[in-house]
Amino acid sequence: MNRKNLKIGLFGFGCVGYGLHEVLLKTPGLKANIKLICVKDPEKKRQISEEHFTFDKNEILEDEDINTVVELIDDADAAFEIVKTALMKGKSVVTANKKMIAEHFSELLQLQKQYNVPLLYEAACCASIPIIRNLEEYYDNDLLESVEGIVNGSTNYILTQTADEGKSYEEALKDAQNKGFAESNPILDTGGFDAKYKLLLLVAHAFGVIVKPNDIYNIGINKLGILELNYAKEKGLKIKLVAFAEKNQEGQITSFVLPKFVDKHDKLFAVDDVFNGVKTKSFFSDIQFFVGKGAGAYPTASAVLSDISALSYDYRYEYKKLNTNDKLASDEDIYLKVMLRHDLEHAPCFKKYFDEIHESYLSNENGYIIGIISLKHIKEISNKKNAEWSLVLFEVVKRN
Ligand SMILES: NC(=O)c1ccc[n+]([C@@H]2O[C@H](COP(=O)([O-])OP(=O)(O)OC[C@H]3O[C@@H](n4cnc5c(N)ncnc54)[C@H](OP(=O)(O)O)[C@@H]3O)[C@@H](O)[C@H]2O)c1
Repeated sequence: MNRKNLKIGLFGFGCVGYGLHEVLLKTPGLKANIKLICVKDPEKKRQISEEHFTFDKNEILEDEDINTVVELIDDADAAFEIVKTALMKGKSVVTANKKMIAEHFSELLQLQKQYNVPLLYEAACCASIPIIRNLEEYYDNDLLESVEGIVNGSTNYILTQTADEGKSYEEALKDAQNKGFAESNPILDTGGFDAKYKLLLLVAHAFGVIVKPNDIYNIGINKLGILELNYAKEKGLKIKLVAFAEKNQEGQITSFVLPKFVDKHDKLFAVDDVFNGVKTKSFFSDIQFFVGKGAGAYPTASAVLSDISALSYDYRYEYKKLNTNDKLASDEDIYLKVMLRHDLEHAPCFKKYFDEIHESYLSNENGYIIGIISLKHIKEISNKKNAEWSLVLFEVVKRN
């Protein structure tokens, strides 16, 4: 098959952009060359000579010779303007920016259709794990039941450090920041927002349903305390930040990001440090499991490279599962078995939210309730000002 010659305009030359430059140099078989690189800071020292760079995005966007834009910047708003203009000018686009895609999914779909150009984003979800294209191509049928994964490397690193090394959450976070795994303002990761953006991509490609970030509930790991960490240790469990989506037979999708207790029989148990892991469950093949590096220059650049290579033979996502009548399940229909840690003051009030209580405990400082609660009631607890609480999932409970 004849491969297309790709002339690339690259945006961003940070961790992933530089990684891509290196990876492309080591892949001479691919007919893809970076013509120009657009970056932001004119004062910054670069690893390659300055004739490769511009600070004016239009030098790439208005260059008709450039047929492919690779967007690898760290600013979601600026990224959207770049990607939108590139698509409108008929350029194929590769991006790794999950926040940008999650916030503008419908508009990006419309632009791809209207201007008949592909937008690929494998690196935006779990970096080196080829999950988007698998969901799009391999699981191209109605029999996929669920997708569940550890999709954020920095929170997984922090959780591994607290569980295995006995570090406090604060120590582990500092360590992750020192090693460059977590941002100086880490709330996007630790609050579960980054995982939610990725989940939104998974839901779109697994079930053909486009949702907005606000439609999916997320709790991160930033509220976890010593009580639930010790509980996990005593029971031989690990706490993992899990992105979850499951479709029932009526086409209703349960989807959330929550910290979850996993036991040693769960494939996610052994996914530690900055690794990511995704389980798919389908009617005939049961559970399949993907694992790989979820961040870092080369693992992320390898996914970008795979998208570039796919563009060279005119690959595009066909979004074949879109336009189904499936939708997110209502919060009152989603029941979860959870451990809720709470302050002493709110113990009686929080108990009322539970449908079933299996266990409860009070010390001089705080307490916990283990039982079954609807997502609707979890959201009501979230809205309580001044209450000190955290929540860890055991499992989703099926109710008729
Ligand atoms: N790092 C990872 O492991 C990883 C994994 C998966 C996905 N991603 C995604 O990949 C993208 C890039 O991440 P990164 O870690 O490579 O970021 P980074 O190291 O912070 O680099 C960001 C780059 O973007 C440039 N930039 C920022 N705003 C710009 C603008 N308006 N116009 C042109 N250039 C601009 C910066 O220019 P200067 O050099 O001039 O400052 C810098 O070169 C993000 O969307 C991120 O979410 C990253």
